[in-house]
Amino acid sequence: MFEREIGLAISRFFVAMSGERLVAYGGYWAIDCEAHLVNIAVHPSERSKGLGKEFLSFLIKDSAGRKLSRMLLEVRKSNSAAQSLYRRFGFEVSGIRPKYYGDEDAVLMHKDL
Ligand SMILES: CC(C)(COP(=O)(O)OP(=O)(O)OC[C@H]1O[C@@H](n2cnc3c(N)ncnc32)[C@H](O)[C@@H]1OP(=O)(O)O)[C@@H](O)C(=O)NCCC(=O)NCCS
Repeated sequence: MFEREIGLAISRFFVAMSGERLVAYGGYWAIDCEAHLVNIAVHPSERSKGLGKEFLSFLIKDSAGRKLSRMLLEVRKSNSAAQSLYRRFGFEVSGIRPKYYGDEDAVLMHKDL
């Protein structure tokens, strides 16, 4: 799945390393003038140390540098940690996708870059 993902022309994925350890990864799809955040994940042992903020900040700068004008994402309604991270960066809720994850609704969020 990862191999297919990073092979897509629209895909921009990155990893964060601490020595030999992969501690975070994430990326987005660049479609027209929009960056669609596909995922951002920090290793459980490294959470709540500011890495998520650093990584999201990097993805926002990378997409803005490619002249993309908006970042969009979906997040599980129950994922309050991620929603709080996104709100900290100025993301606003633009809607709900009912049962997007099968068992749960997605909250749609966006931010102008
Ligand atoms: C969401 C995630 C990437 C945050 O990474 P992190 O390194 O723990 O985040 P940071 O330490 O940089 O904290 C950034 C902000 O996220 C929010 N946050 C992080 N952990 C939180 C928690 N347990 N509860 C509530 N808010 C939380 C806070 O707003 C925090 O800012 P603050 O500390 O200044 O208040 C991480 O929890 C994760 O990998 N989760 C699993 C994967 C996932 O759900 N990804 C999102 C998919 S849409």
